[in-house]
Amino acid sequence: AKRVRTRHFQNAKRDGIKITGLTSYDQLTARIFDEAGIDFLLVGDSAGNNVFGYSTTLPVTVDELIPLTRAVAGAVTRAFVVADMPFGSYESGPDEALHTAVRFMKEAGAHAVKLEGGERSHKQIRRVVQAGIPVMAHIGYTPQSEHGLGGHIIQGRGDGAEQLLADAHAVEDAGAFAVVLEMVPSDIAARVTAELSIPTLSVGAGPHTDGQLLVWTDWAGLTVGRIPKFVKQYADLSGILHGAAKAWQADVASGVYPAPEHSYE
Ligand code: KIV
Ligand code: NA
Repeated sequence: AKRVRTRHFQNAKRDGIKITGLTSYDQLTARIFDEAGIDFLLVGDSAGNNVFGYSTTLPVTVDELIPLTRAVAGAVTRAFVVADMPFGSYESGPDEALHTAVRFMKEAGAHAVKLEGGERSHKQIRRVVQAGIPVMAHIGYTPQSEHGLGGHIIQGRGDGAEQLLADAHAVEDAGAFAVVLEMVPSDIAARVTAELSIPTLSVGAGPHTDGQLLVWTDWAGLTVGRIPKFVKQYADLSGILHGAAKAWQADVASGVYPAPEHSYE
C-alpha cells in the first residue's frame, strides 16, 4: 500500500472517509497496527504513563521519545508517524519548537510532529510548518497543562466554546494539517469540524469528527486502573498475558514445559 501523506488526511475529509489513529511506542505494535491499515501512529507522550510508569506526561523528555519514535517509524510501511513534542520542548517560542521538531525528523524519522495548544501555540506551529515539517495540532483538554486547566476536565463547554473555536481557527491559520480535539462535547466538535478545512481527530470528542484516535493500551485492555469514559476496549490483553504467564508457570512447575520438542538432542 502507498504511504499515507498529509494529502491523505485532506482527501479523507473531502471524501467523508474516517481517519484512524492509535498511539504506538515500539516496533511490535507499530508493525501490527500498520498491517491492519491504521492510518497514523502517534508516538504520544502518553509513553510517560504507558512505557515509563510516570503518573503524568509532564516529566517526559525529547531524549526519551526519540528512540521510541525511531522504532515506530522504522517498522511501518504505510502508516503516517507523528511524534508528540513533550512538555518543555516548544513553549519558549518558535525557535525552540523548530529545534525540537527537527530532532524528531532527523534523529527519529518521524513524518510529522504534534504539539498542544491553540492560540498560544500559533507562532510555534507556523515556524515548524514553514520549515517543511507537518504539524498536527492538539486542542481541548491538553494533558501537559493539566495544572493550568485545573484537572482532567472537559473543555469547550458553555463559555469555553468560543475559546475552543478560536483555538481551532488559530491552528488552521498557523498551517496545521490536522487537529486533535480531546475531551470536547460532541456538538462543539461537530461545529469545529464543519468550520475548519483541515481534518479533526477525536479523542473523546464524539462521532462527528473526521477521524478517531485512541491510546492503544487503553483500547487493548492493558492500562492498569481507570480508563476514560470515551474509550471502548477492543481486547483484554492484560487478561491474556496474565493467563499465559500463569499457564507457563504451572507447566514449568509440573514439568510439562519444556517437552522433548522444545529441547535439543
Ligand atoms: O500522548 C497521547 O497519547 C496523546 C493523545 C491522547 C492525543 O496526545
Ligand atoms: Na500527548
